[in-house]
Amino acid sequence: MPRFVLEYLEGGAGEEATLAREREAFAEWRVMPRTLVDESQRDVSVEILGRKAPLPLAVAPTGLNGVFVRPADTALAQGAALAGVPFIQSTMSNDLMEGVAGVPELRHWWQLYVFGGEEIWQELVDRADKAGCEALVLTTNSQIFGQREWDSRTRDASDRPSLSTIFDAALHPRWLATTLGRGMPAFVNVIDFIPKAHRGFFDSAFWIREQMRRDLDWSDVAKIRQRWKKPLFIKGILNLEDVARAIDSGVDGVILGSHGGRQADWAVSPLDILPRAREMVGDRIALYVTGGIRRGSDILKARALGADAVLAGRAILYGLCAFGADGVAKAIELLKTEMMNEIGQYGVPTLDRLSRDILIRKDELPL
Ligand SMILES: Cc1cc2nc3c(=O)[nH]c(=O)nc-3n(C[C@H](O)[C@H](O)[C@H](O)COP(=O)(O)O)c2cc1C
Repeated sequence: MPRFVLEYLEGGAGEEATLAREREAFAEWRVMPRTLVDESQRDVSVEILGRKAPLPLAVAPTGLNGVFVRPADTALAQGAALAGVPFIQSTMSNDLMEGVAGVPELRHWWQLYVFGGEEIWQELVDRADKAGCEALVLTTNSQIFGQREWDSRTRDASDRPSLSTIFDAALHPRWLATTLGRGMPAFVNVIDFIPKAHRGFFDSAFWIREQMRRDLDWSDVAKIRQRWKKPLFIKGILNLEDVARAIDSGVDGVILGSHGGRQADWAVSPLDILPRAREMVGDRIALYVTGGIRRGSDILKARALGADAVLAGRAILYGLCAFGADGVAKAIELLKTEMMNEIGQYGVPTLDRLSRDILIRKDELPL
C-alpha cells in the first residue's frame, strides 16, 4: 500500500513519544516462569459481558478503514465473528452500521464520537440500539484532533493530496483497484448530518473534526448513560482521577488508552497506571486497556497487571490489509495461539491463576 496509507495505520501524534511508550511499557515487564506445574489443561477463554470469548480481546474501533481494503468494516466484523470476539465499529467507519449488524454470529459494539448538536449522538445511540449493538463505547480523548504531522505532510497548501501522494498512489495499482478505484471512502454512518456542501471526502472529515464537541464533559456522560441502557464504556482514560470519576458516573467499564498514541504526546501508557486503576476499580466495573498489543504475551501481561480484556487496533488491521476477513480471524487466532503457548511456558495454565506475582519490572532486577 502507498506510504500515506501505511502512515495512517501506524503513525502517532507529535514526537510519537506516547506511541513509543506503549511498546516500552510492555518491555519493562519480565516474567518469572513457574515450573513443575500441571499444564495439561490450558485455557485462555474468559467472559466478556457475561458471554464466553476464546480470549480476552475485542477488535478496537478504527475509523477510515476504507483506505485499507473494501469493504473493510464488514471484513473486520466477519473476522471478529469467526474468531468469536466483539468488534467495535467506529463512528468514522465506512460501512453502514445496519449492514455490519447483519454479519452472522457478530458481537457488535458501537463506538461513539460526540460532535455537532445533541440530535446527532442521540440518533446514533438509538440506531445502535435498534441494530442490536451489545455495548456502546464513548471515546472521550479525541475532541481535539491530535497533531499528526505525517497527515499534513501528505497534503498540499489547499489540503488536497500533494503531487507526491498522488504519484505514490499511482505506483500501487493493486491497492488503487481494490480501494480508491471504488471511489473515495465515505463516512456513511454520519454523512446525513453533514451539510450538503461539505460531503466530499476531505471536506466531510474536516467538517466533523471542526464540529467535535470541545465542551464535552461528565454531564454528557450522564445524558448518554440515561439514553443507552445496555453496557457503556468510556474509552481514552489515562488519569487516575478520571478513573475515580468514571466509577461514580454509572458506566459499566473504563478503557485505559491513548488512542494508539495518536492524541496527547508524552502521555503515560495504559499499562503504567493499570495496577493502580485496578486497585481503585476493584470489581465494581470492567477495566480494559488498549494500545501496543502486538503479541499474546502482551495480553497476558495486561491481564496479570489487572485488565479484564484488551482492545487491539493495528495488530488486527495488519491482518485485514493482508487477507481481509480471513486475515482478521488469523490475526486473532495468532494472538490466541501465542497466549496458549506462553501460559504453558509460564506454568500458569489458566487466566484466573495469572497474577502480578509472575511479573517483575526490569528496574526491580536483580532480585
Ligand atoms: C488507524 C486507526 C484509526 C483509529 N480510529 C479510531 C476511532 O475511530 N475511534 C476510536 O475510539 N479509536 C480509534 N483508534 C484507536 C484504537 O481504537 C485503539 O485504541 C488503538 O489503535 C490501540 O493501539 P494499537 O493500535 O497499538 O492496538 C484508531 C487507531 C488507529 C491505529
